Amino acid sequence: MLTEKIESLLGEVAGLQAADEKELESLRLKYLSKKGIVNELMGEFRNVAPEQKREIGMKLNTLKTALQDKFNELKQAVAVKEDDHASLDLTRTPYPTPLGTRHPLSIVKNEIIDIFSRLGFSMADGPEVEDDWHVFSSMNFAEDHPARDMQDTFFVEQHPDIVLRTHTSSVQSRVMEHAEPPIRVICPGRVYRNEAISARAHCFFHQVEGLYIDKDVSFTDLKQVLLTFAREMFGADTKIRLRPSYFPFTEPSAEMDISCNICGGKGCSFCKHTGWVEILGCGMVDPNVLDANGIDSKVYKGYAFGMGVERITNLKYQVKDLRLFSENDVRFLDEFMAAN
Ligand code: DAH
Repeated sequence: MLTEKIESLLGEVAGLQAADEKELESLRLKYLSKKGIVNELMGEFRNVAPEQKREIGMKLNTLKTALQDKFNELKQAVAVKEDDHASLDLTRTPYPTPLGTRHPLSIVKNEIIDIFSRLGFSMADGPEVEDDWHVFSSMNFAEDHPARDMQDTFFVEQHPDIVLRTHTSSVQSRVMEHAEPPIRVICPGRVYRNEAISARAHCFFHQVEGLYIDKDVSFTDLKQVLLTFAREMFGADTKIRLRPSYFPFTEPSAEMDISCNICGGKGCSFCKHTGWVEILGCGMVDPNVLDANGIDSKVYKGYAFGMGVERITNLKYQVKDLRLFSENDVRFLDEFMAAN
């Protein structure tokens, strides 16, 4: 009888719990106080037959120690908890939580998106691992165009037709395939070129492509949109100039310079004392590109432009070394806290 009682109590010990001082005290009263269970069992123990005294006495002692240990353990846990409450001052001002900053390239990319979305452009996206057709062929690159060369382009091993896109112009082709004009999109994204990494070149960088296709689109429209963009981005006094250039996918093509926003056009080392800095390429979409992508060039016309996000960021923040953009050095990133 007594043995069974002791054993069943031993089984209970591990599961005993006390959330606070009050519960702890009722445990003590129940098990360990003068009128508690242990003392009660001691009373019963006096009547145990002498030959059983040794065995049952040992069991009783084990129970007593186990209960005492458990009680001490719970007492300590409750004390720690109470202490926590005491030091919790709800009126105290919170610790300053260090916030991260947006990456400078994201800040500038978002600003570009923002400006063009106010001008009615929506966003389009395409894959970074792309096929030759979308990167080159559909963009009117001749079979032997040097941009297809291994020195510029990363190819996917054993798939000569699959490349890491070298420009976001590939998204133009993706959009034209599926959309009906009027089309007015910008396509931000990462591009890759096989360049040795230095302060001025990297094997990946970012571009924003723009494309507008409709029935009556002219070079004047292009110029006005780019002027608006330049002024929104670099300030209302910014001037632009367009120089004739060549791209396979536009005809005519141009490169656009803005008046150097560092010296205000007077001439400095950044603009090589010319007062102008180049920021993008643009032009009227070559009819071959429209036709290759399923848009009737007899009905529709378009303009396109493409700019480097790093370039614009350098101009805005004068970052002199491109490598800083991908090194994740928090000392550099923290400098953009205010621009977030
Ligand atoms: N794809 C060109 C490059 O990577 C940039 C560019 C130039 C895009 C002219 C255009 C454009 O859409 O019309 O250098």
